[in-house]
Amino acid sequence: MTKRSPTHSHSHEHDAAEHAAPGTAARMWDEKYSSRAKMWSGDPNPQLVAEVADLRPGEALDLGCGEGADAIWLAARGWTVTGLDVSAVALERAAAHARERGQDATIEWVQQDLASWVPDRLFDLVTAQFLHSTQMPWQQALQLAAAAVRAGGTLLIVGHHPDGLPPWGAHHTPEKFFTAEDLARELRIEEPLWRVEVLDSRQRNAIGPEGEAVSLRDAVLRATRLAAQ
Ligand SMILES: C[S@@+](CC[C@H](N)C(=O)[O-])C[C@H]1O[C@@H](n2cnc3c(N)ncnc32)[C@H](O)[C@@H]1O
Repeated sequence: MTKRSPTHSHSHEHDAAEHAAPGTAARMWDEKYSSRAKMWSGDPNPQLVAEVADLRPGEALDLGCGEGADAIWLAARGWTVTGLDVSAVALERAAAHARERGQDATIEWVQQDLASWVPDRLFDLVTAQFLHSTQMPWQQALQLAAAAVRAGGTLLIVGHHPDGLPPWGAHHTPEKFFTAEDLARELRIEEPLWRVEVLDSRQRNAIGPEGEAVSLRDAVLRATRLAAQ
């Protein structure tokens, strides 16, 4: 696992520092992951599978990759993947899962708080699935995702739709969530820089942490970068 050095911090670091003290996100997410042997299902996210299955593999970045199921699925389909997350606990699990599945050769795991990160290279695909951080406004985190897409590449952002939140999240605060339209507006995903491919709200059935059946709604934005910014 790579731990990014402070040289990757950027001049807007103070913006994020207004929202959370340095290290808060890492501590909070490490605690959350440590409270369970396994946090997520281990299956790739359904909107990722639906939206990426037909893309030609290249270099992918999974922002907030958690326990690594999406990154491993991408690697198995021929992508070279960078999985970035603030939680070292999650990344250790992700790396172990990748080794177990024989997919570790083409995945790099990077432990990094997005609050002090700027993309230092560009990717053919940047995916952010349920990157709902309490420490940093989603506009800021997901603007970074958009900035990491190379011309001709794909941005895929999926989040819990504000009208279909999972019932188990007692912590829900409305400002953490967005519709696909919110994303397009706030991130300025529009011509001439972008072509919007999917702007959608999708209902799906899922299994909750106690094995219960739940109905969720996903906000889905997929766009192709037409030109460098
Ligand atoms: C709801 S989980 C989603 C994980 C994974 N994408 C999935 O769908 O299973 C959100 C993830 O974002 C990560 N995260 C939250 N805030 C972050 C930050 N400031 N920098 C980097 N990662 C962050 C968390 O550690 C967590 O793994």
